[in-house]
Amino acid sequence: MEKIVINGGRPLYGDIEVSGMKNAAGAILIATLLVSDKCIIENLPCINDVATTLEILRHMNVEVRMLDKNTVEIDTRNAIGGTSPLDLVRRMRSSYYLYGAELGRYGRAYAGYPGGCDFGVRPIDQHIKGFEALGATVTCEGGYVEAVAPSGGLRGANIFFDLNTVGGTINVMLAAVRAKGTTIIENAAREPHVVDVANFLNTCGANITGAGTDTIRIKGVDKLKGCTYAIIPDMIEAGTYMIAAAATKGRLRIKNVIPKHLESISAKLEEMGVSVEMGDDYVTVWRDGPLYRVNVKTLPYPGFPTDMQPQMCVLMCLADGVSYLNESIFENRFRYVEELKRMGANIKVDGHTAIIEGGTPLSAAQVHAHDLRAGAALVIAGLATEGRTEIEEIQHIERGYDNLVGKLQSVGADIRKVILPDSYGLAKAN
Ligand code: EPU
Repeated sequence: MEKIVINGGRPLYGDIEVSGMKNAAGAILIATLLVSDKCIIENLPCINDVATTLEILRHMNVEVRMLDKNTVEIDTRNAIGGTSPLDLVRRMRSSYYLYGAELGRYGRAYAGYPGGCDFGVRPIDQHIKGFEALGATVTCEGGYVEAVAPSGGLRGANIFFDLNTVGGTINVMLAAVRAKGTTIIENAAREPHVVDVANFLNTCGANITGAGTDTIRIKGVDKLKGCTYAIIPDMIEAGTYMIAAAATKGRLRIKNVIPKHLESISAKLEEMGVSVEMGDDYVTVWRDGPLYRVNVKTLPYPGFPTDMQPQMCVLMCLADGVSYLNESIFENRFRYVEELKRMGANIKVDGHTAIIEGGTPLSAAQVHAHDLRAGAALVIAGLATEGRTEIEEIQHIERGYDNLVGKLQSVGADIRKVILPDSYGLAKAN
Protein backbone atom coordinates (compact mmCIF):
# COMPACT_ATOMS: atom_id res chain seq x y z
CA MET A 1 0.00 0.00 0.00
CA GLU A 2 1.22 3.46 -0.84
CA LYS A 3 0.18 7.00 -0.03
CA ILE A 4 0.93 10.35 -1.66
CA VAL A 5 2.65 12.98 0.47
CA ILE A 6 2.57 16.62 -0.64
CA ASN A 7 4.26 19.66 0.87
CA GLY A 8 2.00 22.21 -0.74
CA GLY A 9 1.89 25.91 -1.33
CA ARG A 10 4.27 26.03 -4.30
CA PRO A 11 3.14 27.35 -7.68
CA LEU A 12 3.59 24.91 -10.57
CA TYR A 13 5.65 26.14 -13.51
CA GLY A 14 6.70 24.48 -16.74
CA ASP A 15 5.56 22.03 -19.41
CA ILE A 16 3.55 18.92 -18.80
CA GLU A 17 2.64 16.25 -21.37
CA VAL A 18 -0.79 14.64 -21.49
CA SER A 19 -1.11 10.87 -22.08
CA GLY A 20 -3.65 8.92 -24.12
CA MET A 21 -7.25 8.96 -22.95
CA LYS A 22 -8.16 6.37 -20.34
CA ASN A 23 -11.78 6.06 -21.41
CA ALA A 24 -10.90 5.64 -25.09
CA ALA A 25 -8.10 3.15 -24.36
CA GLY A 26 -10.34 0.79 -22.37
CA ALA A 27 -12.90 0.65 -25.17
CA ILE A 28 -10.45 0.39 -28.06
CA LEU A 29 -8.40 -2.39 -26.47
CA ILE A 30 -11.55 -4.47 -26.00
CA ALA A 31 -12.80 -3.51 -29.48
CA THR A 32 -9.74 -5.30 -30.95
CA LEU A 33 -11.62 -8.54 -30.16
CA LEU A 34 -14.03 -7.67 -33.00
CA VAL A 35 -11.17 -7.32 -35.46
CA SER A 36 -9.89 -10.89 -35.17
CA ASP A 37 -6.48 -9.82 -36.50
CA LYS A 38 -3.33 -7.98 -35.37
CA CYS A 39 -3.68 -4.35 -34.27
CA ILE A 40 -1.07 -1.91 -33.03
CA ILE A 41 -2.40 0.61 -30.54
CA GLU A 42 -0.26 3.69 -29.88
CA ASN A 43 -0.39 6.48 -27.29
CA LEU A 44 -1.61 4.05 -24.65
CA PRO A 45 -1.57 5.59 -21.16
CA CYS A 46 0.48 3.72 -18.51
CA ILE A 47 -2.34 3.29 -16.02
CA ASN A 48 -3.67 0.38 -14.02
CA ASP A 49 -6.95 0.19 -15.96
CA VAL A 50 -4.98 -0.43 -19.15
CA ALA A 51 -2.82 -3.05 -17.42
CA THR A 52 -5.98 -4.78 -16.15
CA THR A 53 -7.59 -4.70 -19.61
CA LEU A 54 -4.50 -6.25 -21.20
CA GLU A 55 -4.49 -8.89 -18.46
CA ILE A 56 -8.14 -9.73 -19.22
CA LEU A 57 -7.29 -10.08 -22.92
CA ARG A 58 -4.35 -12.39 -22.12
CA HIS A 59 -6.71 -14.60 -20.11
CA MET A 60 -8.90 -14.75 -23.23
CA ASN A 61 -6.03 -16.22 -25.24
CA VAL A 62 -5.18 -12.93 -26.93
CA GLU A 63 -1.51 -12.36 -27.76
CA VAL A 64 -0.43 -9.09 -26.18
CA ARG A 65 3.05 -7.72 -26.86
CA MET A 66 4.27 -4.36 -25.55
CA LEU A 67 6.40 -2.73 -28.28
CA ASP A 68 7.29 0.13 -25.92
CA LYS A 69 5.63 1.50 -22.82
CA ASN A 70 2.91 3.28 -24.82
CA THR A 71 2.49 0.91 -27.77
CA VAL A 72 0.98 -2.54 -27.79
CA GLU A 73 0.53 -5.16 -30.47
CA ILE A 74 -2.61 -7.19 -29.96
CA ASP A 75 -3.43 -10.33 -31.90
CA THR A 76 -7.03 -11.41 -31.29
CA ARG A 77 -7.21 -14.16 -33.94
CA ASN A 78 -7.30 -16.98 -31.38
CA ALA A 79 -9.27 -15.15 -28.69
CA ILE A 80 -11.77 -17.29 -26.80
CA GLY A 81 -15.01 -15.52 -25.86
CA GLY A 82 -16.62 -15.80 -22.45
CA THR A 83 -13.35 -16.46 -20.61
CA SER A 84 -12.66 -13.11 -18.91
CA PRO A 85 -11.89 -13.56 -15.19
CA LEU A 86 -14.52 -12.06 -12.91
CA ASP A 87 -12.04 -10.58 -10.40
CA LEU A 88 -10.35 -8.52 -13.16
CA VAL A 89 -13.62 -7.51 -14.84
CA ARG A 90 -14.88 -6.16 -11.51
CA ARG A 91 -11.91 -3.85 -11.09
CA MET A 92 -13.13 -1.27 -13.62
CA ARG A 93 -16.05 0.05 -15.58
CA SER A 94 -14.84 -0.30 -19.15
CA SER A 95 -14.83 -4.12 -18.90
CA TYR A 96 -18.55 -3.84 -19.82
CA TYR A 97 -17.37 -3.39 -23.42
CA LEU A 98 -16.75 -7.15 -23.42
CA TYR A 99 -20.51 -7.56 -23.84
CA GLY A 100 -20.71 -5.61 -27.11
CA ALA A 101 -17.41 -6.90 -28.51
CA GLU A 102 -18.07 -10.59 -27.71
CA LEU A 103 -21.66 -10.39 -28.93
CA GLY A 104 -20.47 -8.79 -32.18
CA ARG A 105 -17.74 -11.35 -32.78
CA TYR A 106 -19.07 -14.64 -31.41
CA GLY A 107 -22.83 -14.09 -31.24
CA ARG A 108 -22.58 -14.69 -27.48
CA ALA A 109 -21.19 -12.56 -24.68
CA TYR A 110 -20.54 -13.80 -21.17
CA ALA A 111 -18.72 -11.58 -18.70
CA GLY A 112 -19.03 -10.34 -15.13
CA TYR A 113 -20.79 -7.19 -14.03
CA PRO A 114 -18.32 -4.27 -14.19
CA GLY A 115 -16.80 -2.33 -11.30
CA GLY A 116 -15.48 1.24 -11.44
CA CYS A 117 -15.90 4.29 -9.24
CA ASP A 118 -18.75 4.28 -6.73
CA PHE A 119 -21.14 7.12 -7.63
CA GLY A 120 -24.30 5.37 -6.42
CA VAL A 121 -26.34 3.15 -8.74
CA ARG A 122 -24.86 2.81 -12.23
CA PRO A 123 -27.37 0.78 -14.26
CA ILE A 124 -26.65 -0.76 -17.68
CA ASP A 125 -30.27 -1.05 -18.79
CA GLN A 126 -29.64 1.06 -21.91
CA HIS A 127 -26.81 -1.23 -23.03
CA ILE A 128 -29.18 -4.19 -22.63
CA LYS A 129 -32.01 -2.38 -24.42
CA GLY A 130 -29.63 -1.80 -27.35
CA PHE A 131 -28.48 -5.44 -27.51
CA GLU A 132 -32.11 -6.61 -27.36
CA ALA A 133 -33.06 -4.26 -30.19
CA LEU A 134 -30.38 -6.02 -32.28
CA GLY A 135 -32.14 -9.31 -31.51
CA ALA A 136 -30.07 -10.60 -28.57
CA THR A 137 -31.48 -12.30 -25.50
CA VAL A 138 -29.88 -10.90 -22.38
CA THR A 139 -29.83 -12.37 -18.88
CA CYS A 140 -28.11 -11.03 -15.77
CA GLU A 141 -27.49 -13.69 -13.13
CA GLY A 142 -24.97 -14.47 -10.44
CA GLY A 143 -22.92 -11.35 -11.15
CA TYR A 144 -22.64 -12.17 -14.86
CA VAL A 145 -24.25 -10.77 -17.99
CA GLU A 146 -24.99 -13.18 -20.83
CA ALA A 147 -26.17 -11.96 -24.22
CA VAL A 148 -26.99 -14.39 -27.01
CA ALA A 149 -27.69 -13.46 -30.64
CA PRO A 150 -30.55 -15.18 -32.51
CA SER A 151 -29.65 -18.10 -34.83
CA GLY A 152 -29.42 -15.85 -37.91
CA GLY A 153 -27.11 -13.40 -36.09
CA LEU A 154 -27.65 -9.81 -34.89
CA ARG A 155 -29.75 -7.55 -37.12
CA GLY A 156 -29.42 -3.78 -37.46
CA ALA A 157 -32.12 -1.77 -35.68
CA ASN A 158 -33.13 1.73 -34.60
CA ILE A 159 -32.27 2.48 -30.98
CA PHE A 160 -33.34 5.61 -29.14
CA PHE A 161 -31.54 5.93 -25.82
CA ASP A 162 -33.63 7.17 -22.89
CA LEU A 163 -30.66 9.15 -21.65
CA ASN A 164 -27.20 10.16 -22.70
CA THR A 165 -24.90 7.21 -22.08
CA VAL A 166 -21.28 7.01 -23.14
CA GLY A 167 -20.93 3.33 -22.23
CA GLY A 168 -24.25 2.39 -23.82
CA THR A 169 -23.45 4.22 -27.06
CA ILE A 170 -20.05 2.57 -27.43
CA ASN A 171 -21.29 -0.88 -26.43
CA VAL A 172 -24.14 -0.88 -28.96
CA MET A 173 -21.76 0.44 -31.61
CA LEU A 174 -19.44 -2.52 -30.90
CA ALA A 175 -22.27 -5.04 -31.12
CA ALA A 176 -23.64 -3.51 -34.33
CA VAL A 177 -20.41 -3.19 -36.31
CA ARG A 178 -20.61 -6.74 -37.70
CA ALA A 179 -24.41 -7.15 -37.55
CA LYS A 180 -26.49 -7.58 -40.69
CA GLY A 181 -28.01 -4.32 -41.95
CA THR A 182 -27.93 -0.80 -40.57
CA THR A 183 -28.19 0.29 -36.96
CA ILE A 184 -29.15 3.83 -36.07
CA ILE A 185 -28.43 5.06 -32.55
CA GLU A 186 -30.36 8.18 -31.63
CA ASN A 187 -29.73 10.37 -28.60
CA ALA A 188 -26.19 9.00 -28.80
CA ALA A 189 -23.42 10.32 -26.53
CA ARG A 190 -21.11 12.79 -28.32
CA GLU A 191 -18.01 12.46 -26.12
CA PRO A 192 -14.63 12.51 -27.88
CA HIS A 193 -13.96 8.91 -26.89
CA VAL A 194 -17.13 7.77 -28.69
CA VAL A 195 -15.63 9.37 -31.80
CA ASP A 196 -12.24 7.79 -31.12
CA VAL A 197 -13.71 4.29 -30.90
CA ALA A 198 -15.66 4.87 -34.13
CA ASN A 199 -12.49 6.13 -35.85
CA PHE A 200 -10.58 3.06 -34.71
CA LEU A 201 -13.29 0.71 -35.99
CA ASN A 202 -13.53 2.61 -39.29
CA THR A 203 -9.76 2.33 -39.71
CA CYS A 204 -10.31 -1.43 -39.37
CA GLY A 205 -12.93 -1.34 -42.15
CA ALA A 206 -16.16 -0.62 -40.26
CA ASN A 207 -18.81 1.69 -41.71
CA ILE A 208 -19.79 4.12 -38.95
CA THR A 209 -20.94 7.67 -39.63
CA GLY A 210 -22.20 10.43 -37.37
CA ALA A 211 -20.04 9.70 -34.29
CA GLY A 212 -19.73 13.01 -32.44
CA THR A 213 -23.37 13.90 -33.26
CA ASP A 214 -26.46 12.54 -31.54
CA THR A 215 -27.27 10.19 -34.44
CA ILE A 216 -24.81 7.42 -35.26
CA ARG A 217 -25.34 5.13 -38.27
CA ILE A 218 -23.58 1.78 -38.36
CA LYS A 219 -23.76 -0.25 -41.56
CA GLY A 220 -22.76 -3.77 -40.63
CA VAL A 221 -19.72 -5.31 -42.35
CA ASP A 222 -18.75 -9.01 -42.48
CA LYS A 223 -15.15 -8.60 -41.50
CA LEU A 224 -12.69 -6.14 -40.03
CA LYS A 225 -8.93 -6.05 -40.57
CA GLY A 226 -6.04 -5.09 -38.31
CA CYS A 227 -4.64 -1.55 -38.25
CA THR A 228 -2.30 0.81 -36.42
CA TYR A 229 -4.14 3.41 -34.39
CA ALA A 230 -3.14 6.16 -31.93
CA ILE A 231 -5.46 6.97 -29.04
CA ILE A 232 -6.49 10.63 -28.58
CA PRO A 233 -5.12 12.68 -25.64
CA ASP A 234 -6.96 12.56 -22.34
CA MET A 235 -9.02 15.73 -21.93
CA ILE A 236 -9.68 14.98 -18.26
CA GLU A 237 -5.99 14.60 -17.48
CA ALA A 238 -5.39 17.90 -19.32
CA GLY A 239 -8.22 19.57 -17.41
CA THR A 240 -6.83 18.31 -14.11
CA TYR A 241 -3.47 20.01 -14.82
CA MET A 242 -5.26 23.17 -15.98
CA ILE A 243 -6.95 23.38 -12.59
CA ALA A 244 -3.70 22.52 -10.77
CA ALA A 245 -2.03 25.53 -12.47
CA ALA A 246 -4.92 27.80 -11.48
CA ALA A 247 -5.14 26.48 -7.91
CA THR A 248 -1.41 26.94 -7.20
CA LYS A 249 -1.21 30.37 -8.88
CA GLY A 250 1.32 28.95 -11.29
CA ARG A 251 1.72 28.70 -15.05
CA LEU A 252 1.63 25.41 -16.98
CA ARG A 253 1.90 24.69 -20.68
CA ILE A 254 -0.06 21.49 -21.12
CA LYS A 255 1.06 19.69 -24.26
CA ASN A 256 -0.47 16.99 -26.48
CA VAL A 257 -4.07 18.15 -26.14
CA ILE A 258 -6.96 18.72 -28.55
CA PRO A 259 -7.92 22.29 -27.53
CA LYS A 260 -11.50 21.90 -28.81
CA HIS A 261 -12.11 19.22 -26.15
CA LEU A 262 -11.14 21.68 -23.40
CA GLU A 263 -13.49 24.53 -24.28
CA SER A 264 -16.03 24.02 -21.49
CA ILE A 265 -13.22 23.85 -18.90
CA SER A 266 -11.40 26.89 -20.31
CA ALA A 267 -14.61 28.93 -20.35
CA LYS A 268 -15.21 28.33 -16.63
CA LEU A 269 -11.57 29.01 -15.73
CA GLU A 270 -11.68 32.32 -17.60
CA GLU A 271 -14.91 33.23 -15.81
CA MET A 272 -13.00 32.68 -12.55
CA GLY A 273 -10.21 35.06 -13.58
CA VAL A 274 -7.72 32.44 -14.80
CA SER A 275 -5.78 33.09 -18.03
CA VAL A 276 -6.01 30.43 -20.73
CA GLU A 277 -4.23 30.52 -24.07
CA MET A 278 -4.92 27.84 -26.66
CA GLY A 279 -2.24 26.71 -29.11
CA ASP A 280 -2.52 24.12 -31.89
CA ASP A 281 -1.88 21.16 -29.63
CA TYR A 282 -1.21 22.77 -26.26
CA VAL A 283 -2.93 25.02 -23.77
CA THR A 284 -1.20 27.43 -21.39
CA VAL A 285 -2.92 28.21 -18.12
CA TRP A 286 -1.79 30.77 -15.54
CA ARG A 287 -3.15 32.91 -12.76
CA ASP A 288 -1.75 36.03 -11.16
CA GLY A 289 -4.91 37.55 -9.63
CA PRO A 290 -7.76 36.46 -7.36
CA LEU A 291 -10.24 33.69 -8.18
CA TYR A 292 -13.88 34.68 -8.63
CA ARG A 293 -16.89 32.59 -7.68
CA VAL A 294 -18.69 30.71 -10.42
CA ASN A 295 -21.58 28.29 -10.95
CA VAL A 296 -21.07 25.00 -12.78
CA LYS A 297 -23.45 22.26 -13.87
CA THR A 298 -22.02 19.02 -15.22
CA LEU A 299 -23.48 17.96 -18.57
CA PRO A 300 -22.81 15.49 -21.37
CA TYR A 301 -20.19 16.66 -23.90
CA PRO A 302 -19.74 19.43 -24.98
CA GLY A 303 -20.92 20.57 -21.53
CA PHE A 304 -18.75 20.71 -18.43
CA PRO A 305 -17.57 17.11 -17.76
CA THR A 306 -18.64 15.28 -14.63
CA ASP A 307 -15.09 13.86 -14.51
CA MET A 308 -13.83 17.40 -13.76
CA GLN A 309 -16.42 18.11 -11.07
CA PRO A 310 -14.33 17.26 -7.95
CA GLN A 311 -11.27 19.15 -9.27
CA MET A 312 -13.46 22.20 -9.99
CA CYS A 313 -14.84 22.00 -6.45
CA VAL A 314 -11.33 22.54 -5.06
CA LEU A 315 -10.90 25.67 -7.17
CA MET A 316 -14.26 26.94 -5.95
CA CYS A 317 -13.03 26.49 -2.35
CA LEU A 318 -10.18 28.86 -3.19
CA ALA A 319 -12.39 31.47 -4.90
CA ASP A 320 -13.97 34.44 -3.15
CA GLY A 321 -17.72 34.09 -2.54
CA VAL A 322 -20.26 31.30 -2.82
CA SER A 323 -20.16 28.93 -5.80
CA TYR A 324 -22.80 26.37 -6.78
CA LEU A 325 -21.73 23.06 -8.30
CA ASN A 326 -24.53 20.93 -9.72
CA GLU A 327 -23.95 17.27 -10.65
CA SER A 328 -26.45 16.20 -13.31
CA ILE A 329 -24.87 12.95 -14.54
CA PHE A 330 -24.37 10.67 -11.54
CA GLU A 331 -26.57 9.92 -8.55
CA ASN A 332 -23.88 10.54 -5.94
CA ARG A 333 -20.54 12.03 -6.89
CA PHE A 334 -19.92 14.14 -3.78
CA ARG A 335 -18.37 11.59 -1.41
CA TYR A 336 -15.04 13.44 -1.60
CA VAL A 337 -16.62 16.53 0.00
CA GLU A 338 -16.14 15.00 3.47
CA GLU A 339 -12.40 14.74 2.73
CA LEU A 340 -12.18 18.37 1.60
CA LYS A 341 -13.97 19.33 4.81
CA ARG A 342 -11.11 17.71 6.76
CA MET A 343 -8.95 20.31 5.03
CA GLY A 344 -11.20 23.09 6.28
CA ALA A 345 -13.40 23.49 3.20
CA ASN A 346 -16.80 25.02 3.80
CA ILE A 347 -19.14 22.96 1.59
CA LYS A 348 -22.78 21.95 2.02
CA VAL A 349 -24.30 19.31 -0.20
CA ASP A 350 -27.99 19.69 -0.94
CA GLY A 351 -29.15 16.84 -3.18
CA HIS A 352 -27.28 17.15 -6.46
CA THR A 353 -25.77 20.54 -5.63
CA ALA A 354 -22.71 21.43 -3.59
CA ILE A 355 -22.75 24.94 -2.16
CA ILE A 356 -19.19 26.06 -1.66
CA GLU A 357 -18.33 29.00 0.50
CA GLY A 358 -14.87 29.86 -0.74
CA GLY A 359 -12.20 32.27 0.29
CA THR A 360 -10.90 30.67 3.50
CA PRO A 361 -7.50 28.99 3.05
CA LEU A 362 -7.47 25.19 3.22
CA SER A 363 -5.30 23.44 5.79
CA ALA A 364 -3.13 20.36 5.18
CA ALA A 365 -4.57 17.08 6.47
CA GLN A 366 -4.63 13.29 6.09
CA VAL A 367 -7.32 12.36 3.58
CA HIS A 368 -8.61 9.39 1.57
CA ALA A 369 -9.12 9.13 -2.17
CA HIS A 370 -12.49 7.37 -2.50
CA ASP A 371 -12.41 7.32 -6.29
CA LEU A 372 -10.27 8.37 -9.24
CA ARG A 373 -11.23 12.01 -9.81
CA ALA A 374 -11.81 12.56 -6.09
CA GLY A 375 -8.18 11.52 -5.66
CA ALA A 376 -7.08 14.02 -8.33
CA ALA A 377 -9.05 16.75 -6.54
CA LEU A 378 -7.33 15.98 -3.24
CA VAL A 379 -3.94 16.14 -4.95
CA ILE A 380 -4.82 19.61 -6.29
CA ALA A 381 -6.03 20.66 -2.83
CA GLY A 382 -2.75 19.41 -1.32
CA LEU A 383 -0.66 21.24 -3.93
CA ALA A 384 -2.50 24.50 -3.24
CA THR A 385 -2.29 24.26 0.55
CA GLU A 386 0.67 25.15 2.80
CA GLY A 387 1.90 22.20 4.86
CA ARG A 388 1.93 18.41 4.56
CA THR A 389 -1.08 16.68 3.03
CA GLU A 390 -1.19 12.88 2.96
CA ILE A 391 -3.53 11.04 0.61
CA GLU A 392 -4.32 7.38 1.17
CA GLU A 393 -5.99 4.78 -1.08
CA ILE A 394 -4.08 6.08 -4.07
CA GLN A 395 -4.78 2.89 -6.02
CA HIS A 396 -7.88 4.75 -7.25
CA ILE A 397 -5.71 7.53 -8.70
CA GLU A 398 -3.35 5.04 -10.34
CA ARG A 399 -6.24 3.42 -12.20
CA GLY A 400 -6.49 6.50 -14.40
CA TYR A 401 -3.58 8.96 -14.18
CA ASP A 402 -0.33 8.16 -15.98
CA ASN A 403 2.62 9.04 -13.71
CA LEU A 404 0.75 11.80 -11.89
CA VAL A 405 3.44 12.14 -9.23
CA GLY A 406 6.37 12.24 -11.68
CA LYS A 407 4.65 14.73 -13.98
CA LEU A 408 3.84 17.06 -11.07
CA GLN A 409 7.39 16.77 -9.70
CA SER A 410 8.69 17.87 -13.11
CA VAL A 411 6.80 21.18 -12.78
CA GLY A 412 8.02 21.95 -9.29
CA ALA A 413 5.62 20.16 -6.96
CA ASP A 414 6.96 18.71 -3.72
CA ILE A 415 5.03 15.45 -4.03
CA ARG A 416 6.07 11.85 -3.56
CA LYS A 417 4.76 8.35 -3.06
CA VAL A 418 5.53 6.68 0.23
CA ILE A 419 5.12 2.99 0.93
CA LEU A 420 2.99 2.36 3.98
CA PRO A 421 4.49 -0.18 6.41
CA ASP A 422 3.10 -3.75 6.13
CA SER A 423 1.55 -3.51 9.56
CA TYR A 424 -0.55 -0.53 8.45
CA GLY A 425 -3.40 -2.59 7.02
CA LEU A 426 -3.59 -4.66 10.21
CA ALA A 427 -3.44 -1.61 12.44
CA LYS A 428 -6.23 -0.03 10.43
CA ALA A 429 -8.34 -3.17 10.59
CA ASN A 430 -8.03 -3.45 14.38
N1 EPU B 1 -27.09 5.18 -17.14
C1 EPU B 1 -28.26 4.49 -17.00
N2 EPU B 1 -28.41 3.35 -17.74
C2 EPU B 1 -27.46 2.89 -18.59
C3 EPU B 1 -26.27 3.62 -18.73
C4 EPU B 1 -26.11 4.76 -17.99
O1 EPU B 1 -29.14 4.86 -16.23
O2 EPU B 1 -27.68 1.85 -19.21
C5 EPU B 1 -26.89 6.42 -16.37
C6 EPU B 1 -25.71 6.33 -15.41
O3 EPU B 1 -26.07 5.72 -14.19
C7 EPU B 1 -25.32 7.78 -15.27
C8 EPU B 1 -25.60 8.34 -16.67
O4 EPU B 1 -26.52 7.45 -17.26
O5 EPU B 1 -26.15 8.39 -14.34
C9 EPU B 1 -24.39 8.46 -17.57
O6 EPU B 1 -23.70 7.22 -17.62
P1 EPU B 1 -22.71 6.83 -18.81
O7 EPU B 1 -23.18 5.53 -19.35
O8 EPU B 1 -22.55 7.97 -19.73
O9 EPU B 1 -21.36 6.64 -18.01
P2 EPU B 1 -20.41 5.39 -17.95
O10 EPU B 1 -20.32 4.76 -19.29
O11 EPU B 1 -20.77 4.55 -16.78
C10 EPU B 1 -18.33 6.80 -18.65
C11 EPU B 1 -16.93 7.01 -18.11
C12 EPU B 1 -16.97 7.83 -16.84
C13 EPU B 1 -17.66 9.15 -17.13
C14 EPU B 1 -19.04 8.93 -17.77
C15 EPU B 1 -19.75 10.20 -18.19
C16 EPU B 1 -15.76 5.04 -18.86
C17 EPU B 1 -15.12 3.77 -18.53
N3 EPU B 1 -16.33 5.72 -17.87
O12 EPU B 1 -19.03 6.09 -17.63
O13 EPU B 1 -15.63 8.06 -16.47
O14 EPU B 1 -17.85 9.86 -15.93
O15 EPU B 1 -18.91 8.08 -18.92
O16 EPU B 1 -18.96 10.92 -19.08
O17 EPU B 1 -15.74 5.47 -20.01
C18 EPU B 1 -13.88 8.60 -14.99
O18 EPU B 1 -13.11 8.52 -15.95
O19 EPU B 1 -13.53 9.06 -13.86
C19 EPU B 1 -15.26 8.16 -15.16
C20 EPU B 1 -16.06 7.94 -14.13
